[in-house]
Amino acid sequence: MIGKKIIKLSTVDSTNNYVAKLFRSGKISSGTVIMSDIQTNGKGQRGNIWTSEPLVNLTLSFPLDHKTVSVNNLFHINYTVSLAVFDFIKKYCPSTKIKWPNDTYVNGKKIAGILIENQFDNSGFKSSIIGIGININQEYFQNLKATSLYLETNKNYNPSELLLELIESLNKRFDQLKSMRNQVIKDDFDEQLWLKDELHLFEANGLTFEGEIVKTSDDGCLLINTAGGIKSFRNGEIIYLTK
Ligand code: BTN
Repeated sequence: MIGKKIIKLSTVDSTNNYVAKLFRSGKISSGTVIMSDIQTNGKGQRGNIWTSEPLVNLTLSFPLDHKTVSVNNLFHINYTVSLAVFDFIKKYCPSTKIKWPNDTYVNGKKIAGILIENQFDNSGFKSSIIGIGININQEYFQNLKATSLYLETNKNYNPSELLLELIESLNKRFDQLKSMRNQVIKDDFDEQLWLKDELHLFEANGLTFEGEIVKTSDDGCLLINTAGGIKSFRNGEIIYLTK
């Protein structure tokens, strides 16, 4: 389903924007993957910029028509994509974890990011544009909390070959979602949460507190066990103070 058709571009502003435009005008169908060697205006979560060195990393997007998967909860798309990226990186880096809500971390550093943009219209039609950026061969980062497959394994990789492996991981996890194994996906996701079941420092509403990540809720919140009981946080409401 995903990656039956792959389009490779040399340069584009953002693969998410490009895929959204082509999908809206019916020029590509659900699951068509568009990757680009260079992104001139890559988008990150919550209005951030995604910077990626030209030619050495993976930057790709695909549209997903919700009629083709059993989506009764939009958060399950996030869990499914996060796990697929996790599965793919984990083959190379055994200490891979998922930093809630959907970053991929290796040894406390971010190696991949995911941007999911959902569309709804009056007829109830729903679709998502799923964008994935994975640091593959990049050697230097301005951000000290970023890493790449190269930095973690000391090897160089062919991004186009890795794209096929990533697509395989995506199809495996989306097959699970299609066969209604949502609980398996959610449990696997919770199991792989970075810092889970360990006491760490967090900040929310300007207050610092200690707590242990327990799991996520069905509506996508992070549940943390604190001295005042289990507290629930939405994306953007909590800062991890662990270095
Ligand atoms: C994040 O961690 O903030 C999300 C980063 C998502 C980056 C990818 S790269 C391919 C796709 N196109 C974009 O403009 N963004 C996503």
